[in-house]
Amino acid sequence: MSKNKILIAGNWKMNKTSAEAKALVSEIVAVCGSTTSVDVAVCPPFTALSAAAESLKGTNVLLGAQNVYVKESGAYTGEISASMLKEVGCSCVILGHSERRQYFGESDAFINEKTKVAQAAGLLPIVCVGETLSEREAGKMMEVVTTQTVGALAGVTDAANLVIAYEPVWAIGTGKTATPAMAQEVHAAIRALLVKQFGEAGSKVRILYGGSMNPANASELLDEKDIDGGLIGGAALKSATFLDLVKIACSKERGGHKCCCSCQ
Ligand code: PGA
Repeated sequence: MSKNKILIAGNWKMNKTSAEAKALVSEIVAVCGSTTSVDVAVCPPFTALSAAAESLKGTNVLLGAQNVYVKESGAYTGEISASMLKEVGCSCVILGHSERRQYFGESDAFINEKTKVAQAAGLLPIVCVGETLSEREAGKMMEVVTTQTVGALAGVTDAANLVIAYEPVWAIGTGKTATPAMAQEVHAAIRALLVKQFGEAGSKVRILYGGSMNPANASELLDEKDIDGGLIGGAALKSATFLDLVKIACSKERGGHKCCCSCQ
Protein backbone atom coordinates (compact mmCIF):
# COMPACT_ATOMS: atom_id res chain seq x y z
CA MET A 1 0.00 0.00 0.00
CA SER A 2 1.37 3.39 -0.89
CA LYS A 3 2.10 5.74 1.96
CA ASN A 4 0.20 8.89 2.74
CA LYS A 5 1.45 12.21 1.39
CA ILE A 6 4.18 13.49 3.68
CA LEU A 7 3.46 16.54 5.83
CA ILE A 8 6.37 18.50 7.26
CA ALA A 9 5.06 20.94 9.87
CA GLY A 10 7.16 23.42 11.80
CA ASN A 11 6.13 24.05 15.40
CA TRP A 12 7.85 27.30 16.24
CA LYS A 13 6.61 27.29 19.85
CA MET A 14 7.17 30.65 21.62
CA ASN A 15 9.81 31.82 19.16
CA LYS A 16 10.00 34.54 16.50
CA THR A 17 8.65 38.05 16.49
CA SER A 18 6.53 39.14 13.55
CA ALA A 19 9.58 40.56 11.79
CA GLU A 20 11.55 37.38 12.36
CA ALA A 21 8.62 35.26 11.20
CA LYS A 22 8.35 37.25 7.99
CA ALA A 23 12.03 36.72 7.31
CA LEU A 24 11.94 32.98 8.03
CA VAL A 25 8.79 32.40 5.99
CA SER A 26 10.24 34.37 3.08
CA GLU A 27 13.32 32.14 3.09
CA ILE A 28 11.16 29.01 3.21
CA VAL A 29 8.79 29.97 0.42
CA ALA A 30 11.61 31.19 -1.79
CA VAL A 31 12.67 27.54 -2.01
CA CYS A 32 9.64 25.36 -1.47
CA GLY A 33 6.71 27.74 -1.85
CA SER A 34 5.43 25.93 -4.92
CA THR A 35 6.03 22.34 -3.92
CA THR A 36 3.17 19.94 -4.49
CA SER A 37 5.09 16.73 -3.74
CA VAL A 38 4.75 17.17 -0.01
CA ASP A 39 2.62 19.29 2.28
CA VAL A 40 4.54 21.91 4.23
CA ALA A 41 3.16 23.92 7.17
CA VAL A 42 4.55 26.53 9.52
CA CYS A 43 3.01 27.21 12.93
CA PRO A 44 4.25 30.52 14.37
CA PRO A 45 3.04 32.04 17.65
CA PHE A 46 -0.30 33.90 17.48
CA THR A 47 1.27 37.34 17.25
CA ALA A 48 3.26 36.40 14.15
CA LEU A 49 0.44 34.66 12.26
CA SER A 50 -0.61 37.73 10.39
CA ALA A 51 2.92 38.60 9.24
CA ALA A 52 3.54 35.00 8.26
CA ALA A 53 0.25 34.88 6.34
CA GLU A 54 1.33 37.91 4.35
CA SER A 55 4.57 36.21 3.28
CA LEU A 56 2.76 32.93 2.51
CA LYS A 57 0.24 34.50 0.14
CA GLY A 58 0.10 32.72 -3.20
CA THR A 59 2.26 29.81 -2.05
CA ASN A 60 1.40 26.19 -1.19
CA VAL A 61 2.84 26.40 2.32
CA LEU A 62 0.13 26.12 4.95
CA LEU A 63 -0.24 28.30 8.01
CA GLY A 64 -1.05 26.77 11.38
CA ALA A 65 -1.55 27.93 14.94
CA GLN A 66 -0.33 26.19 18.07
CA ASN A 67 -3.58 26.22 20.03
CA VAL A 68 -7.22 27.24 19.85
CA TYR A 69 -9.95 27.81 22.40
CA VAL A 70 -13.24 25.95 22.27
CA LYS A 71 -15.59 28.95 22.42
CA GLU A 72 -16.47 31.14 19.48
CA SER A 73 -16.21 34.48 21.31
CA GLY A 74 -16.87 36.04 24.69
CA ALA A 75 -15.32 36.62 28.10
CA TYR A 76 -12.33 34.29 27.83
CA THR A 77 -9.39 36.57 28.50
CA GLY A 78 -6.28 35.55 26.69
CA GLU A 79 -7.90 33.01 24.40
CA ILE A 80 -8.21 32.83 20.61
CA SER A 81 -11.11 31.29 18.67
CA ALA A 82 -11.10 29.07 15.60
CA SER A 83 -12.77 31.73 13.45
CA MET A 84 -10.06 34.22 14.44
CA LEU A 85 -7.45 31.73 13.26
CA LYS A 86 -9.33 31.12 10.02
CA GLU A 87 -9.63 34.85 9.39
CA VAL A 88 -5.89 35.38 9.74
CA GLY A 89 -5.25 32.61 7.21
CA CYS A 90 -4.70 29.45 9.27
CA SER A 91 -5.69 26.13 7.81
CA CYS A 92 -4.36 23.92 10.58
CA VAL A 93 -3.79 23.97 14.33
CA ILE A 94 -1.58 21.96 16.69
CA LEU A 95 -3.60 20.58 19.60
CA GLY A 96 -2.67 18.87 22.85
CA HIS A 97 1.06 19.38 22.54
CA SER A 98 2.84 17.84 25.53
CA GLU A 99 3.92 21.31 26.64
CA ARG A 100 0.25 22.33 26.81
CA ARG A 101 -0.57 19.17 28.71
CA GLN A 102 2.38 19.66 31.09
CA TYR A 103 2.38 23.42 31.74
CA PHE A 104 -1.26 24.30 31.13
CA GLY A 105 -2.97 21.20 32.44
CA GLU A 106 -4.75 20.27 29.23
CA SER A 107 -6.73 17.05 29.57
CA ASP A 108 -7.72 14.53 26.94
CA ALA A 109 -11.33 15.71 27.26
CA PHE A 110 -10.35 19.33 26.61
CA ILE A 111 -8.19 18.33 23.65
CA ASN A 112 -11.13 16.29 22.35
CA GLU A 113 -13.36 19.36 22.52
CA LYS A 114 -10.73 21.42 20.71
CA THR A 115 -10.37 18.78 18.02
CA LYS A 116 -14.10 18.90 17.27
CA VAL A 117 -14.19 22.69 17.33
CA ALA A 118 -11.21 22.91 14.96
CA GLN A 119 -12.75 20.44 12.51
CA ALA A 120 -16.12 22.19 12.62
CA ALA A 121 -14.38 25.46 11.77
CA GLY A 122 -12.52 23.91 8.85
CA LEU A 123 -9.14 23.83 10.56
CA LEU A 124 -7.04 20.68 10.25
CA PRO A 125 -6.18 19.56 13.78
CA ILE A 126 -2.71 18.12 14.40
CA VAL A 127 -3.41 16.21 17.60
CA CYS A 128 -0.31 15.40 19.66
CA VAL A 129 0.11 12.32 21.83
CA GLY A 130 3.13 10.80 23.53
CA GLU A 131 4.49 9.27 26.68
CA THR A 132 6.99 10.67 29.18
CA LEU A 133 10.24 8.89 29.99
CA SER A 134 8.92 7.60 33.31
CA GLU A 135 5.79 6.26 31.61
CA ARG A 136 7.92 4.48 29.01
CA GLU A 137 10.22 3.07 31.68
CA ALA A 138 7.21 1.84 33.65
CA GLY A 139 6.04 -0.05 30.55
CA LYS A 140 3.01 2.22 30.20
CA MET A 141 3.86 3.67 26.79
CA MET A 142 1.11 1.96 24.82
CA GLU A 143 -1.47 2.49 27.53
CA VAL A 144 -0.71 6.23 27.68
CA VAL A 145 -0.70 6.70 23.92
CA THR A 146 -3.91 4.68 23.58
CA THR A 147 -5.70 6.66 26.29
CA GLN A 148 -4.58 9.98 24.78
CA THR A 149 -5.51 8.98 21.23
CA VAL A 150 -8.89 7.47 22.08
CA GLY A 151 -9.63 10.37 24.43
CA ALA A 152 -8.74 13.08 21.91
CA LEU A 153 -10.80 11.40 19.20
CA ALA A 154 -13.91 10.42 21.17
CA GLY A 155 -16.93 11.13 18.99
CA VAL A 156 -14.81 12.43 16.13
CA THR A 157 -16.13 11.16 12.79
CA ASP A 158 -14.16 13.18 10.26
CA ALA A 159 -11.03 11.17 9.50
CA ALA A 160 -10.36 13.13 6.32
CA ASN A 161 -9.48 16.26 8.26
CA LEU A 162 -7.26 14.89 10.93
CA VAL A 163 -3.55 14.50 11.62
CA ILE A 164 -2.00 12.79 14.64
CA ALA A 165 1.51 13.54 15.86
CA TYR A 166 3.31 11.00 18.01
CA GLU A 167 5.79 12.93 20.12
CA PRO A 168 7.51 10.97 22.87
CA VAL A 169 8.00 13.65 25.52
CA TRP A 170 11.53 12.46 26.33
CA ALA A 171 12.55 13.14 22.72
CA ILE A 172 11.24 16.71 22.51
CA GLY A 173 14.00 19.28 22.41
CA THR A 174 16.43 16.83 23.98
CA GLY A 175 18.34 15.66 20.93
CA LYS A 176 17.20 12.11 21.79
CA THR A 177 15.14 10.70 18.95
CA ALA A 178 13.12 7.53 19.07
CA THR A 179 14.77 5.03 16.76
CA PRO A 180 12.74 4.41 13.60
CA ALA A 181 11.70 1.01 14.98
CA MET A 182 10.63 2.49 18.33
CA ALA A 183 8.59 5.17 16.59
CA GLN A 184 7.07 2.74 14.09
CA GLU A 185 5.92 0.45 16.90
CA VAL A 186 3.85 3.26 18.38
CA HIS A 187 2.71 4.60 15.00
CA ALA A 188 1.43 1.13 14.11
CA ALA A 189 -0.53 1.01 17.37
CA ILE A 190 -2.02 4.44 16.65
CA ARG A 191 -2.84 3.29 13.11
CA ALA A 192 -4.73 0.31 14.51
CA LEU A 193 -6.74 2.63 16.76
CA LEU A 194 -7.53 4.89 13.81
CA VAL A 195 -8.67 1.98 11.65
CA LYS A 196 -10.78 0.66 14.52
CA GLN A 197 -12.50 4.03 14.84
CA PHE A 198 -12.74 5.13 11.21
CA GLY A 199 -12.46 1.94 9.19
CA GLU A 200 -10.49 2.19 5.95
CA ALA A 201 -10.38 6.01 6.29
CA GLY A 202 -8.19 5.49 9.36
CA SER A 203 -5.37 4.27 7.17
CA LYS A 204 -5.39 7.61 5.37
CA VAL A 205 -4.95 9.72 8.53
CA ARG A 206 -1.41 11.01 8.59
CA ILE A 207 0.63 10.19 11.67
CA LEU A 208 3.60 12.51 12.10
CA TYR A 209 6.61 11.80 14.26
CA GLY A 210 7.92 14.60 16.47
CA GLY A 211 10.83 14.81 18.89
CA SER A 212 14.26 15.99 17.79
CA MET A 213 13.61 15.18 14.16
CA ASN A 214 16.36 16.69 12.05
CA PRO A 215 18.00 16.29 8.64
CA ALA A 216 20.28 13.56 9.99
CA ASN A 217 17.54 11.23 11.21
CA ALA A 218 14.52 12.17 9.08
CA SER A 219 15.19 9.90 6.14
CA GLU A 220 15.19 6.71 8.19
CA LEU A 221 12.14 7.78 10.16
CA LEU A 222 10.20 8.65 7.01
CA ASP A 223 10.98 5.23 5.57
CA GLU A 224 8.83 3.60 8.22
CA LYS A 225 5.46 2.39 7.03
CA ASP A 226 3.28 4.45 9.35
CA ILE A 227 5.39 7.61 9.66
CA ASP A 228 3.75 10.13 7.35
CA GLY A 229 5.77 13.21 8.17
CA GLY A 230 7.24 15.23 10.98
CA LEU A 231 6.25 17.84 13.52
CA ILE A 232 9.46 19.78 13.84
CA GLY A 233 10.43 22.05 16.71
CA GLY A 234 14.05 23.14 16.98
CA ALA A 235 14.95 22.28 13.40
CA ALA A 236 12.07 24.42 12.11
CA LEU A 237 13.53 27.64 13.47
CA LYS A 238 16.21 27.94 10.80
CA SER A 239 15.33 27.89 7.12
CA ALA A 240 18.36 25.76 6.23
CA THR A 241 17.45 22.82 8.45
CA PHE A 242 13.72 23.09 7.81
CA LEU A 243 14.31 23.18 4.05
CA ASP A 244 16.64 20.20 4.32
CA LEU A 245 13.79 18.29 5.92
CA VAL A 246 11.39 19.36 3.17
CA LYS A 247 13.96 18.31 0.60
CA ILE A 248 14.35 14.85 2.19
CA ALA A 249 10.57 14.45 2.24
CA CYS A 250 10.27 15.62 -1.38
CA SER A 251 12.81 13.12 -2.57
CA LYS A 252 10.97 10.30 -0.71
CA GLU A 253 7.74 11.26 -2.45
CA ARG A 254 9.47 11.40 -5.79
CA GLY A 255 11.26 8.09 -5.41
CA GLY A 256 14.62 9.72 -4.89
CA HIS A 257 14.18 11.97 -7.91
CA LYS A 258 14.68 15.68 -8.09
CA CYS A 259 12.08 17.81 -6.40
CA CYS A 260 9.37 19.70 -8.24
CA CYS A 261 10.34 22.97 -6.60
CA SER A 262 13.69 24.66 -6.27
CA CYS A 263 14.76 22.88 -3.11
CA GLN A 264 17.35 20.75 -4.92
P1 PGA B 1 11.71 19.28 18.76
O1 PGA B 1 10.17 19.63 19.10
O2 PGA B 1 11.77 18.96 17.29
O3 PGA B 1 12.48 20.50 19.14
O4 PGA B 1 12.07 18.10 19.59
C1 PGA B 1 9.13 18.95 18.49
C2 PGA B 1 7.83 19.41 19.07
O5 PGA B 1 7.75 19.65 20.29
O6 PGA B 1 6.82 19.54 18.35
